[in-house]
Amino acid sequence: MSASRPIDYSSAQIALHWLIAALVLFQLIFGESMKEVIDAAEEGKAMSATDAALGNAHYWVGIAVLALVALRLALRIARGAPAPIGEGILTRVAAGTHHLFYVLLVLAPVTGLLGFYVGEPWGDLHEIFKPIFIILIVLHAAGALFHAFWLHDGTLRRMLVPQRS
Ligand code: HEM
Ligand code: HEM
Repeated sequence: MSASRPIDYSSAQIALHWLIAALVLFQLIFGESMKEVIDAAEEGKAMSATDAALGNAHYWVGIAVLALVALRLALRIARGAPAPIGEGILTRVAAGTHHLFYVLLVLAPVTGLLGFYVGEPWGDLHEIFKPIFIILIVLHAAGALFHAFWLHDGTLRRMLVPQRS
């Protein structure tokens, strides 16, 4: 498979990267409304209209992430990804971060669905992904900015535009 690695990310891969990143940020920022919805249902109390709307959005945006990640992984397997720019320990940390992202991008929606329909311990497990996601995103974005503004090596550029002419 590595013999036929592409030289860049395709526009579909780039679009999926940024769309999924935006949807995950939405989930992380507004996820607590879903918690309010679940608590209200369990304790039989009222919830605000905002929480009801954001809870509903959390459900559908989460399912969209799962569907888009399935598409992204299929593309990743069929087409592959360009070889990392650079080498060494940090390059391996970056590759490990990418793999962990894919695991989380599948497990977060799956445990969310289980938490919604089955209950505990899935809900608690689902909540643990929040800090893990935040740490990984900070690390990953810092890495991307380090490449762009310190190493000036085109790593960020190739996740913005396809590199073929
Ligand atoms: C990428 C996908 C997802 C992310 C990043 C995500 C993130 C979050 C976050 C940050 C919270 C709040 C946790 C807290 O306040 O400590 C939450 C709660 C919750 N989410 Fe998700 N979520 C995702 C997908 C889903 C999906 C598809 C469902 C399915 C219905 C779902 C169901 C829930 C439930 C039920 C809760 C409340 C858990 C509880 O109170 O026990 N999530 N989620
Ligand atoms: C929720 C947020 C994000 C997630 C889940 C995410 C996930 C990923 C994953 C899984 C890859 C590996 C792609 C592959 O080779 O298959 C990747 C690559 C990349 N991401 Fe992100 N990302 C996020 C946010 C960001 C942000 C905010 C930036 C920029 C500041 C960024 C910049 C990049 C770059 C430049 C690459 C290409 C790395 C390379 O060519 O080796 N990402 N991202």
